[in-house]
Amino acid sequence: MIYAITNTKGGVGKTTTATNLAVEFADRKKHTLLVDLDPQAHATRCFLKNKTERDVGDLIMDKPSQAIRSVTQTEITNLDIVPASARLTETAELLSGRIRREERLGRALESLRENYQVIIIDCPPALGILTYNAVNAADLLIVPVQPGVGAVTGLKAILETAQELRDQDDVPYRILITMYDMRTSRTNTIFEELLEEHKRRLLKTIISKSESLNQANLARKPVSRFQPSSRGANEYSALCNELLRIRK
Ligand SMILES: Nc1ncnc2c1ncn2[C@@H]1O[C@H](COP(=O)(O)OP(=O)(O)OP(=O)(O)O)[C@@H](O)[C@H]1O
Ligand SMILES: [Mg+2]
Repeated sequence: MIYAITNTKGGVGKTTTATNLAVEFADRKKHTLLVDLDPQAHATRCFLKNKTERDVGDLIMDKPSQAIRSVTQTEITNLDIVPASARLTETAELLSGRIRREERLGRALESLRENYQVIIIDCPPALGILTYNAVNAADLLIVPVQPGVGAVTGLKAILETAQELRDQDDVPYRILITMYDMRTSRTNTIFEELLEEHKRRLLKTIISKSESLNQANLARKPVSRFQPSSRGANEYSALCNELLRIRK
């Protein structure tokens, strides 16, 4: 199963979701691969201290048969990563001259499906060639949405793009509410009205705004290792269970 965690809006919890979810799947003995597709490389820094020779740029540009060479082990059992680096920006430029440039990541990951039960792609906060590749590669898009002004704009952009790219009206997606703050109930009411349209696609698990998640990120650690019984750890565990129950 390939999940792309994506939203054109920045800072909505994509990387927090991708990294913590990857660890949850790995902890359930699923052989898991995290693909960092963001030149900011935040997900990579959560798992690797040193630079690797190969990264996601190589995964995209190499022949699919070479895909496994871009994979690096993490210290977490059952979790491997294809790291990102700032070089990824150049890869995106290089891609523009290639035939079927929106399909390269998908083809590389197809060849890795036999090695991994779960593949999670952490996307950059932009609609560009990298996100197009992730959208094409995914079996399910997970769109984290943070309540507040403009919350649904990024969601709309991603869904429209996905429909066009995949030439498919019913693109499989789920919405994940992140950084939910009970205290700002007024904004939340407006938000819930906006989400009415997508009700069937709303994940039941909600990720609250929590200091444990923020601190774990600052320490560059998965929350389940940083504060195992915190609210953030419990919510990402529940999210993993929910995803295991649904097919698409
Ligand atoms: N549930 C949460 N509670 C509190 N803080 C959070 C939560 N989720 C994420 N954060 C914090 O919000 C910031 C943005 O989170 P994150 O990096 O996951 O978002 P992103 O969508 O990947 O951002 P970008 O678009 O830059 O890639 C980080 O500082 C992170 O620590
Ligand atoms: Mg990110």
